[in-house]
Parts: sequence; structure tokens; C-alpha cells
Amino acid sequence: MSSSTLAMAALLLWVSMLRGSTAQLDANFYDTTCPDVLSIVQQVISNASQTDIRIGASLIRLHFHDCFVDGCDGSILLDNSSTIETEKDAAPNVNSTRGFGVVDDIKTALENSCPGVVSCADILAIAAEESVAGGPSWTVLLGRRDSTTANVTGANTNLPAPSENLTTLITKFSDVGLDTTDLVALSGAHTFGRARCVSFIDRLYNFSGTGSPDPTLNSTYLATLQQLCPQGGNGSVLADLDPTTPDEFDNNYYSNLESNEGLLQSDQELYSTSGADTISIVSNFSSNQSAFFETFAQSMINMGNISPLTGSEGEIRLDCRLGCGASLLLDGSDGEKFAIVNKNSARGFEVVDTIKRAVESACIGVVSCADILAIAARDFVFLIS
Ligand code: HEM
Ligand SMILES: *[C@@H]1O[C@H](CO)[C@@H](O)[C@H](O)[C@H]1NC(C)=O
Ligand SMILES: *[C@@H]1O[C@H](CO)[C@@H](O)[C@H](O)[C@H]1NC(C)=O
Ligand SMILES: *[C@@H]1O[C@H](CO)[C@@H](O)[C@H](O)[C@H]1NC(C)=O
Ligand SMILES: *[C@@H]1O[C@H](CO)[C@@H](O)[C@H](O)[C@H]1NC(C)=O
Ligand SMILES: *[C@@H]1O[C@H](CO)[C@@H](O)[C@H](O)[C@H]1NC(C)=O
Ligand SMILES: *[C@@H]1O[C@H](CO)[C@@H](O)[C@H](O)[C@H]1NC(C)=O
Ligand SMILES: *[C@@H]1O[C@H](CO)[C@@H](O)[C@H](O)[C@H]1NC(C)=O
Ligand SMILES: *[C@@H]1O[C@H](CO)[C@@H](O)[C@H](O)[C@H]1NC(C)=O
Ligand SMILES: *[C@@H]1O[C@H](CO)[C@@H](O)[C@H](O)[C@H]1NC(C)=O
Ligand SMILES: *[C@@H]1O[C@H](CO)[C@@H](O)[C@H](O)[C@H]1NC(C)=O
Repeated sequence: MSSSTLAMAALLLWVSMLRGSTAQLDANFYDTTCPDVLSIVQQVISNASQTDIRIGASLIRLHFHDCFVDGCDGSILLDNSSTIETEKDAAPNVNSTRGFGVVDDIKTALENSCPGVVSCADILAIAAEESVAGGPSWTVLLGRRDSTTANVTGANTNLPAPSENLTTLITKFSDVGLDTTDLVALSGAHTFGRARCVSFIDRLYNFSGTGSPDPTLNSTYLATLQQLCPQGGNGSVLADLDPTTPDEFDNNYYSNLESNEGLLQSDQELYSTSGADTISIVSNFSSNQSAFFETFAQSMINMGNISPLTGSEGEIRLDCRLGCGASLLLDGSDGEKFAIVNKNSARGFEVVDTIKRAVESACIGVVSCADILAIAARDFVFLIS
């Protein structure tokens, strides 16, 4: 090899290291940059679950609500800012999605161990797997990067609603590349967690404007739910999505459907829509928990693969709520959040901040925090060598 070829190869290697060369998700993505990422996420969730039994359910749902809106890019975590209109205000999310504080705790723990490395989108994917501890497990593919934008319109249109019919649910899954088996398997996540009365109350009193309850509802279960959710009562009261084993990740969701005890209309339709090809899948998962777990694991991987940002796309946020640009450029108006990033990030943060401000003023929104950290690391090596 000539020296110029060598120099070119070295340059290419350097550029690819700087920009991130991997365009495919990869289970080993953080092996050298953050080898303990899985156990760090696991520890924070396991600690949180001691005081919040519902946290696993809430976290896996965040990954779902992230992935269905422009792909698994952490967009659901962004708060309002000068450039962002938060997805948290979209109808499927408002007063319903939760667990954001635990995501912050995970991010803080990761920033302490491997600053600027692990994306918020990957945190949600890992948390989703850790959330079903005791249930199925799978190898989480990694290397997603974070969006610099949110899409509240996308959250309102792409996420399925509990009153939608099976045809619409199948279409919304198909729109993101998931098939009917994925729909039935992933709906099985409703084997734990809670729903508010507002999410199913029309089934109890006035189903599809008929003035009567949903005829598919088990009458005993209907009476129980009517007692919990009286007409004109508090719509925020919570019901277990799985009345039999509310906090276990098992296949009882499917046996519930067979006894007409699906809580949401969208649940019961998988079994009660006459002639649907979802019925035999429900029966399979109801009679065979291994079949459910195996399919659920594969379907979670399928969902996690929806349009990730990779390579040099997007950024690695330092604060999952703010986005890199916002977190570095915010003035005192949001001092508290800024302080969280600042306090928990590596020393030298102020230096990165200063660099970022300088770069931003020259080329707004173009250079990511991660690249600045990479460039700073390289220049630091030059300085000491
Ligand atoms: C098939 C279409 C789906 C619909 C229509 C749907 C709808 C809903 C609704 C309405 C709630 C209750 C929200 C509330 O009242 O606050 C809920 C909760 C939940 N959903 Fe779904 N969902 C679907 C699919 C999924 C998928 C694919 C997953 C994950 C893989 C999932 C995981 C959960 C979990 C775990 C909860 C409970 C969350 C908690 O307790 O915080 N859902 N869903
Ligand atoms: C564990 O959880 C508690 C209560 O949620 C919290 O105060 C504490 O900081 C957490 N500890 C660790 C090590 O995450
Ligand atoms: C976020 O911004 C939108 C649009 O300005 C506003 O309607 C909404 O109330 C804000 N949400 C929060 C939580 O501040
Ligand atoms: C969300 O909850 C707040 C506070 O309880 C309430 O004022 C608001 O109306 C709720 N929004 C929706 C869309 O339910
Ligand atoms: C937001 O979501 C809508 C609905 O899926 C989509 O049509 C639109 O292209 C998205 N906008 C952006 C900027 O990604
Ligand atoms: C399902 O809902 C869509 C949208 O509301 C409607 O156009 C369609 O006719 C419904 N299909 C069935 C089979 O009820
Ligand atoms: C049921 O809902 C329909 C359509 O939303 C409405 O017109 C009707 O008044 C409701 N009936 C009762 C008994 O609340
Ligand atoms: C409605 O129920 C929720 C959940 O139990 C509770 O937090 C809230 O305080 C209740 N609101 C009212 C007005 O009673
Ligand atoms: C209703 O639920 C009960 C208790 O879970 C069950 O034994 C019964 O078979 C169900 N009835 C129907 C019609 O599904
Ligand atoms: C249950 O499902 C597993 C996994 O798909 C399969 O290997 C096994 O043969 C099934 N068991 C029965 C009794 O069908
Ligand atoms: C049940 O599901 C498993 C796992 O997806 C599959 O291998 C098996 O063929 C299914 N069995 C039936 C009877 O559909």
C-alpha cells in the first residue's frame, strides 16, 4: 500500500469514527463505548419498580409510542422548547404516558458512566426489554440516534386509539411495517399496566352511540367496570388492563379475550371480530405461553427496527427532554433542567458548551453534541501527546 493510500485509509477511518459509521442496529454497538449500559438501565428500573409496580408497563409503552411516530428516535421524550412542540400533549399521550422521570434517572446514570454516548432512543429500547423481567427476553439491537424534532401531528394520527376497529388497527401497524401477528403479539403487552376509565367508558354505557354497553363485554366484568367507572364520574380512575394477574407479564391477556374480558375495545376485537385471522393467533397464545413469548420477543425487535436514525443522522442528546441544541443553548429561563445536564455530565461540560455556542452561531443546528465531544477528545489527545 502506498503511503498516500494509507493516509487516505486513515482519514476514512477517522472520519467514520467521528461521524459514526454504523447504519445498521447492532447488539454490540456499545461494547467498547459503554459496556455496562444494559446493567445500568436494569439497576435504575429495578430500583424504581420497588416504589412503582407499574413502571415496567409505563416504560414499554413509551418505546411503542416513540417508534410509531417517525420511528424509534426518542422524539416522545422531548419537552416543549423554542423549536419543539412536544408529543406529550398529543391525545394518546396526554395525562397517560408516564415514566419520564425514570428515563431521566437512567440517562443521568449513563452520562455519569459514559458521557455523550448512549442515545435516549436506545434507552427506551433497552428499558422496554428490562421492563418485562420475568417474561420473555430478547437481544436488544442498538445504535439508534436521537431526533432533533418532534411530531405532535404524527402522534395524533399514527398511534392507534382504543375505539378503533380491527381494520384500522391492522392498517396502522402495516403503515410502520408490522403485520397482523405483530399486532396480536404486541397487544399482549396489555397483560400488565393500567388504563383510565375515559379509555373504555363508552363500552360501559353507550357503545358506538347505541345507548347500550358493548355486547361483547362479559356481563360480570361489565358490572365490575361500571362500579369502578360510574357515568359522569372521574375519568382518571385506573383499571387493570389484565384483571386476572394485573402486574405479571404472562399470557392471561389472551385467555381474558376468550372470556370476553378484554378491557379496551381494541383488545376484544382481536378475538370477537367474526371471521378475523387474529382469532386463531389469540387461541394459540392463550394455550401456549412459549408461543406468545417467542413471538412477542420477535415482534418487539421488529418494532424497535422502525426507521431508526443511525450513523451521522440526528444526535446523541445529553438531556432526553431537551435535545442537544436546546440543552446547550438554553439560557437561565430553564435553569433547572440545564443544571441537571450540567451537574451530571462529564467535567469539561462548560468547555463543550462554549464550543457548541461558537459552532451554533456559525452553522445553526448542523453539528451534533456527540461530534463536538469527538472532536474535543481528539484535540485533547493532540494536546497531551
Ligand atoms: C394495538 C393497539 C393499541 C392500542 C389501541 C392501545 C391503547 C392503549 C390505551 C388506551 C391504554 C391506556 C391509556 C390510559 O388510559 O391512560 C394503553 C395502555 C398500555 N399500553 Fe397500549 N395500546 C395498543 C398497543 C400497545 C402496544 C403495541 C404496547 C407495547 C408493546 C402497549 C403497551 C401498553 C401498556 C404496557 C399500557 C399500560 C401503561 C401503564 O400502565 O402506564 N400497547 N394502551
Ligand atoms: C432508588 O429509588 C429511590 C426512590 O424512587 C430514589 O430516591 C433513589 O435515588 C434511587 N436510587 C438509585 C441508586 O437509583
Ligand atoms: C406546548 O406547546 C404547545 C404549543 O405552543 C401548547 O399548546 C402546549 O400547551 C404546551 N405544552 C406544555 C406542556 O407546556
Ligand atoms: C389532563 O389533566 C389535567 C389536570 O388534571 C386536566 O386539566 C386536563 O383537562 C386533562 N387533559 C385532557 C385532555 O384530558
Ligand atoms: C409528521 O407525521 C405526519 C403523519 O404521520 C407525517 O405526514 C409528516 O410527514 C410528519 N412530519 C415530519 C416533519 O416528519
Ligand atoms: C373501521 O373504521 C373505519 C374508520 O372509522 C371505517 O371507515 C370502516 O368502515 C370500519 N370498518 C369496519 C369493518 O367496521
Ligand atoms: C350515546 O352517544 C350518542 C352519539 O355520541 C349520543 O347521540 C347519545 O345521546 C348518547 N346516548 C346516551 C344515552 O348517552
Ligand atoms: C380522579 O382520580 C385520580 C386517580 O385516582 C385522582 O388522582 C384524582 O385526584 C381524582 N380527581 C378527582 C377530582 O377526584
Ligand atoms: C365471563 O367471565 C367469567 C369469569 O371470568 C367466566 O367464567 C365466564 O365464562 C365469562 N363468560 C363469557 C360469556 O365469556
Ligand atoms: C408451543 O409453542 C412453542 C414455541 O413456538 C412450540 O415449540 C411448542 O411446540 C408449542 N407447544 C404446543 C403444545 O403446541
Ligand atoms: C403458535 O405460535 C408459534 C410461535 O409463533 C408458531 O410457531 C406455531 O406455528 C403457532 N401454532 C399455531 C397452531 O398456529
